Amino acid sequence: MRIESPRYTERVGSVRINDVQKVLELDSGRAKELPREEKIAVQKTEEDTIKDLEEKMAIIIPTKDEKLKLFEGVISGVPHECLIIVVSNSQRKRVDRFRMERDTLSQFCHFTRRQALIIHQKDPILAEALREAGYTELLGEDGQIRDGKAEGMMIAMLIAMIAKKNYVGFIDADNYFPGAVWEYVRCYASGFSMAKSPYVMVRILWRYKPKISTGMYFKKWGRVSEITNRCINSLISTKTGFETEIIKTGNAGEHAMSLGLAKILPYASSYAVEPQELVSIFEGFGGVLPMAHQAAAKHGVEIFQIETRNPHLHEEKGEQHQQEMLLPGLGVIYHSPLCDKDTKQMVLDELRQQNAISQDKEPSKPRLYPPLKKVDLQQFTKAIKEHIDSYSALEGEQ
Ligand code: GDP
Ligand code: CO
Repeated sequence: MRIESPRYTERVGSVRINDVQKVLELDSGRAKELPREEKIAVQKTEEDTIKDLEEKMAIIIPTKDEKLKLFEGVISGVPHECLIIVVSNSQRKRVDRFRMERDTLSQFCHFTRRQALIIHQKDPILAEALREAGYTELLGEDGQIRDGKAEGMMIAMLIAMIAKKNYVGFIDADNYFPGAVWEYVRCYASGFSMAKSPYVMVRILWRYKPKISTGMYFKKWGRVSEITNRCINSLISTKTGFETEIIKTGNAGEHAMSLGLAKILPYASSYAVEPQELVSIFEGFGGVLPMAHQAAAKHGVEIFQIETRNPHLHEEKGEQHQQEMLLPGLGVIYHSPLCDKDTKQMVLDELRQQNAISQDKEPSKPRLYPPLKKVDLQQFTKAIKEHIDSYSALEGEQ
């Protein structure tokens, strides 16, 4: 595939944030020696390189009571070489939706001859394994893994580590276009192939969000991202002393990381997770606070933002949901030790304008989880070893 070369890179401490790169060509044909002048403006990633990277990648699909047809479409779009890891928090009472997801995945794997894993977020075995591995932060008062998308992503990342993958990519289960899913994964691979550092993150940006029904939702959705980006950019600007608009993917649900980076970042709960990843990177490696990790500081942390060709269309969950997205995201910015007075005021103004908080209130501080390197992976693996087969979508087939 062909992608624009990064035209501009903003450097903040050890962090390198590349400006948005557009996809030029989804399929760039056979491998050929490129003329030198082409290489300057365009990044061609060969099919073999993409496949090699896909082989090292786990695609994590967090899901909670999504339409089965959408889920089915999403898994069909994940390239064959990737290991699919579904982490579900769907209901099991009344209608066992988890069972339905499992069956759908099994059938898919059976006919496509591929491997996939599916786990339920409330599986007591996983909770117990976390306890034994010394990572109880993820557990609630009832002893189970807490609700939330971030919490699901984290447990799935541990499974990806056990499966000895090098990269994780996230794709929401409510995507309407399997073609978009396919493109996201290729963008992840392409970003990884461009990286000079083993500590790398790729975030997806979409230009087109087609309108379906009334349009209001889409406008608002755009606004959530816009506001989050503006506040993160303000956070960076006040540290460098130069205004910047470099961050355009503050809320990107579709994103990917090397596990090297994934292991050392603190995460925020539920929907605050995506903006917090960026905030964590600036806190840990932006050069203002002490460096969070020596090797990563030395190599640098690289962020790519890639704009896809496929339009993005996902389930619309209503206005209430928009506020549920905005508030925690801005909360992480507001409560970051990097956050200055002006950015704090900007956050408050935005939240008040959206009626997301009342005049005299501050956004609450999102729950923060320590980096996953704290988990004793050996212990964790030992604890789920007997059960790992039961997570396989092809259980009993081989
Ligand atoms: P948006 O797309 O950012 O507006 O947020 P969504 O509500 O669509 O959530 C993104 C993805 O996370 C979807 O695939 C959801 O099904 C999934 N999700 C939401 N909550 C949870 C949860 O508690 N656990 C898991 N595992 N997935 C969740
Ligand atoms: Co969604």
